[in-house]
Amino acid sequence: MPFDLDKLISEHAGENYALYAAHVNPRFARALSIIGFDRCYARAEGAYLWDTDGRKYLDMLAGYGAFNIGRNHPVVKKALNDFMAADVASLVQMEAPLLCGLLADELKRRVGYGLDYVYFGSTGAEANETAIKFARRATGRSRIVYAASGFHGLTTGALALNGSEVFKENFGDLIASAKVPFGDLPALEQALAAGDVAAFFIEPVQGKGVNIPPEGYLAEAGRLCRKHGALFVADEVQSGIGRTGKFLALHHEDGAEPDMVIVSKSLSGGFVPISAVVMRAGIYDKVYSSLDRAVVHSSTFGKSNFAMVAGLAALSVVDDEGLMDNATAMGDLLGTRLRELAPRYEFIKDIRWRGLMLAIEFGKPKSLKLRAAWKAVNTLNEDLFCQAVTIPLLADHGILTQVAGNRMTTIKLIPPLVVTEADIAWFVSAFDTVMADLHRFPGPAWESLNRIARNALGRGRGKAAAE
Ligand SMILES: Cc1ncc(COP(=O)(O)O)c(C=O)c1O
Repeated sequence: MPFDLDKLISEHAGENYALYAAHVNPRFARALSIIGFDRCYARAEGAYLWDTDGRKYLDMLAGYGAFNIGRNHPVVKKALNDFMAADVASLVQMEAPLLCGLLADELKRRVGYGLDYVYFGSTGAEANETAIKFARRATGRSRIVYAASGFHGLTTGALALNGSEVFKENFGDLIASAKVPFGDLPALEQALAAGDVAAFFIEPVQGKGVNIPPEGYLAEAGRLCRKHGALFVADEVQSGIGRTGKFLALHHEDGAEPDMVIVSKSLSGGFVPISAVVMRAGIYDKVYSSLDRAVVHSSTFGKSNFAMVAGLAALSVVDDEGLMDNATAMGDLLGTRLRELAPRYEFIKDIRWRGLMLAIEFGKPKSLKLRAAWKAVNTLNEDLFCQAVTIPLLADHGILTQVAGNRMTTIKLIPPLVVTEADIAWFVSAFDTVMADLHRFPGPAWESLNRIARNALGRGRGKAAAE
């Protein structure tokens, strides 16, 4: 019997969570079920998802930022279909693939800074591993400096640069690294001054928490790196490919001069794993230092033609559809509308954004009654208040969002850059309703939160939330 994908899917319809729990990750399946996120999505287009019951959702998460051009974009689909139909030779390995050179050229033009060569990998973590390794080789030093709240992937090298201890706990010794507060130049200079630092890794807008650097920070950080012989590495895995209204978030700042720039996620329009490290020739020359070391760093799928085709098509979509301008316009509209709401709701502490990377940060309210509620949930778990927002956004309003990071009181909005004014209105009106409900304490919103806490944390501790 030949393989039949449609038949396989229809025969197992609705078994998603049972299969996932049995064979992949039972704890994650359970967590999704507790918060009511255990839905079965059947179709996606642009900024929307549809579940198997036909309900439409607004996707404000975009696959963790992989779908800047919108899901299942027809231009990339066509390019990949054309490529499949042509039976092209891929992964020959002992060749120089045409599409790889073309994508590297397109990428370099958009990144700028006179960077010379592109290393292609498959994931953001792999690209960060590459940059760590290359920085160590290029400088002959081993220590890496990174920013608090930073996130660069979860492989063991990149893990050493993770701003959250939760991810690092119990995984043993990691490479030598030092953490500095985000945006703090004196702390950075102090960390660099010992002269043993290979590189400073920074996300020009941080994914965890959506932290936007103070003006001038990135340019000055680069200058300090040069002064102390360290490389300046911009991780644009999440903030790049137009997300903040410019191709790179670094492009918002004059005078920033990176030695390496890392992109991934949306570079292939979300269809195929891809990542790239764009670097100075001096770094490349140190790593690939002779003919017999010409492949001293590589990976089998790194420059797969599937990824290159998707990359070329996705970059053309970003330009042809004016997605960077739309990111700026829709980000400003969303941010402004949310700031207008903020004075009505004590729980809202800050709204900040750059393009379509936006944070809603919650904080301790003023009134005594709400303070008690805030204290109760935060004592249980710092993420819990955010869940009180993300859960009804999905359940009652069909909007998919996420908490901006572990143990954070911030939610992050990173929708596809194709969102429209109607989508922004959909979100703002839903968020308004959810906030109004949460400002009634005691009330139904708090009762359901208490139920979730009880399920997630065990009956005894959950009970404390209500008291
Ligand atoms: C800034 C940044 N760097 C690196 C990574 C890791 O990418 P991946 O999950 O593809 O390994 C991420 C993932 O979210 C990221 O946001």
